[in-house]
Amino acid sequence: MADKRRFELFARFLAERFPDARRVFDVAGGMGRLNEELTRLGREVTTFDSRHKRLKVRFVERHFGLEEPCECDLVVGLHPDGATRVIVEYAALHRVPFAVIPCCSDNGMPYRPWMRHLADLARERGLRVEEADLPMQGRARVIVGLPATG
Ligand SMILES: C[S@@+](CC[C@H](N)C(=O)[O-])C[C@H]1O[C@@H](n2cnc3c(N)ncnc32)[C@H](O)[C@@H]1O
Repeated sequence: MADKRRFELFARFLAERFPDARRVFDVAGGMGRLNEELTRLGREVTTFDSRHKRLKVRFVERHFGLEEPCECDLVVGLHPDGATRVIVEYAALHRVPFAVIPCCSDNGMPYRPWMRHLADLARERGLRVEEADLPMQGRARVIVGLPATG
């Protein structure tokens, strides 16, 4: 069962870890609850999801793909299901940081191998990887990818 505090906890984590990231792409953001929390913290957030039912937030009603113009300083996903891999690939392609809290894999892989696979994918694409745990129930481990600087 996903923890109801996940939006607030992840938003706080993101704001602390990426204090300079003004524009955020929230991929597979469902109704836009993470968007709401991040907006409250002063970020300019665009949520991508195919859901019709949603909150009054900046929202793009379609699936997110690599072709999306990169108008963000950070790309994130909270339990983004089938969009997890594209977040990592997008960040690597556009040289922006990402942060995801993965849940299910897109290929039937169990959770731990899936987490290793995502971290390996990010490293292979030239990103430095960090991990963190949020104090909540359910899938709570964050993978962060950072493009090399300089
Ligand atoms: C488990 S829900 C999580 C929603 C929200 N982030 C949350 O934590 O409540 C996964 C969401 O991923 C969306 N999704 C899956 N693939 C996507 C893609 N390529 N682009 C955008 N959204 C996608 C689905 O529509 C669904 O709303």
